[in-house]
Amino acid sequence: QTKSMDKIVSLCKRRGFLFQSSEIYGGVQGFWDYGPLGVDLKRNLKEAWWQDMICGHNELKQPAGAPSTYEMVGLDCTIIMHPQVWKNSGHYDLFHDHMVDCRESKKRYRFDQVRGREVTYQDRTIFVSTLAEAEQEEDDIRRRGMKFFKLRNKDADKITVGGESITIDKLDNTENVLGPDAKTLGTLTEPREFNLMFKTTLGALGGEDDVTFLRPETAQGIFVNFKNVLDSSRVKVPFGIGQVGKSFRNEITPRNFTFRSREFEQMEIEFFCHPDQSQQWYRYWRDRRMNWYLSLGMGSESLIMREHDPEELAHYSVGTADIEYAFPFLPPGEFGELEGIAHRGDFDLRSHMEGKLDPATNPMTVELNEHGKPKYRGSGKDLTYRDEATNEKFIPHVIEPSAGADRGVLAFLCEAYTEDQQPDEKGNLQTRTVMKLHPRLAPVKAAVFPLVKKDGMPEIAQDLYGELKKHFNVFYDDKGAVGRRYRRQDEAGTPYCITIDGDTVSDQTVTIRDRDSLEQIRVKLDDVVDTLTKKIDG
Ligand code: GAP
Repeated sequence: QTKSMDKIVSLCKRRGFLFQSSEIYGGVQGFWDYGPLGVDLKRNLKEAWWQDMICGHNELKQPAGAPSTYEMVGLDCTIIMHPQVWKNSGHYDLFHDHMVDCRESKKRYRFDQVRGREVTYQDRTIFVSTLAEAEQEEDDIRRRGMKFFKLRNKDADKITVGGESITIDKLDNTENVLGPDAKTLGTLTEPREFNLMFKTTLGALGGEDDVTFLRPETAQGIFVNFKNVLDSSRVKVPFGIGQVGKSFRNEITPRNFTFRSREFEQMEIEFFCHPDQSQQWYRYWRDRRMNWYLSLGMGSESLIMREHDPEELAHYSVGTADIEYAFPFLPPGEFGELEGIAHRGDFDLRSHMEGKLDPATNPMTVELNEHGKPKYRGSGKDLTYRDEATNEKFIPHVIEPSAGADRGVLAFLCEAYTEDQQPDEKGNLQTRTVMKLHPRLAPVKAAVFPLVKKDGMPEIAQDLYGELKKHFNVFYDDKGAVGRRYRRQDEAGTPYCITIDGDTVSDQTVTIRDRDSLEQIRVKLDDVVDTLTKKIDG
């Protein structure tokens, strides 16, 4: 397989796209640093998003597929917010993951990654479920001649999951019977709940009352500023607020390179609309976001749109579709989430509004309502919207296209990675590794090469380099054979290489070589900026 994760990870390190955080100290799991090429790739992705979704949006023109015209504005909120935000967003009570303990390795293993799967245990294949699930299926299990199997709570028991041996303890007391066939239902300890938010304390003397959290999504900063934006700008429903920024989740098993990190960036839009039009806007944003990835060079066969089943929906959502990418670490035919487009109804504005916060009581105490669900105490502020034309008052519904910047970078890196066969200087075919990044995303837009370091070529090349630097990120290289210089730029994803040769000195023209087609065109020195601008912006 040419697009293997190993090759992509190794190229990222070798060429300076991504490094493990704190690598010289052995690294920290789930944290990644962007190197000189990576930082520009990520900036370009975020800027393309900001330009295409927020500041480049024409609010006077009705886009194809949209129910009406709409406005877009931006916001930049803090990472640490009032703790009550997380109470009312539902994250404090509901943003949990499950894990089982592993005694020997001291590793935490996410229960939902083994749940419903067959794992190897003492040379037998067993099916992992919770005790409750196993009991529900009890009749079926007995009918099929299978039996419960207790994992003994003695010294640690080893099970193998996906080739990795892990050790679990704290096993339950299910009856110990083993069926004659290998496919036997086993049980793991009931999963322990674990909140994914990073806790921190405010102030030097901070006690329990000063506990707060690093935001696990940028969305909530937008909801709590809804009224500020309405009052300070002239936006009218329908409109969207966009934000790009860091989010933090204490993921139990960060994995697959940057795919699941503990510190990552999100690019989120909260789009506020009339409830009657929300389904139309939901469909509009799903299509719009899918087309955005395609416009930046994603292959249509690498992406799918997947509607969530009702039981999969997050606590706030009345409908969600994921844009998923065929990441190379997944088996063929499987896709991983790149972006979610959720119909959040009026959940967030309503939660932040309803009820009154009583400062005399601990705002973090969970109170249940008559349905046994957490009772939220809101800000008490009126977050309804009044339509000036019709005088109708309502709580807008929200459509949320929520993309991960790091996951986007990873998907574009994977998509770009290509190997082909090209002749070297002697005409022998060699494998060329080339990152076919869209010119808008490519960290370096062009490289400038004097063919040789004499005969006036370096002087012209340096002047051109200085001129181009005012417009684009460009790279100057005069080392080694020109073929090797091309290869280095191919790996960095540079779409254009400009060579200054003997003819340039006499006729003031240069060659521009296209990374993907390998076509070379001859252009006047004075026209290079214009030619590149047209090529990069399409
Ligand atoms: N506000 C809604 C929200 O946060 P989400 O599906 O939890 O929804 C949205 O996250 C996007 O953020 C994901 O589609 C993914 O691209 C990115 N994301 C979430 N958790 C991540 C993690 N641990 N590492 C990297 N990216 C992550």
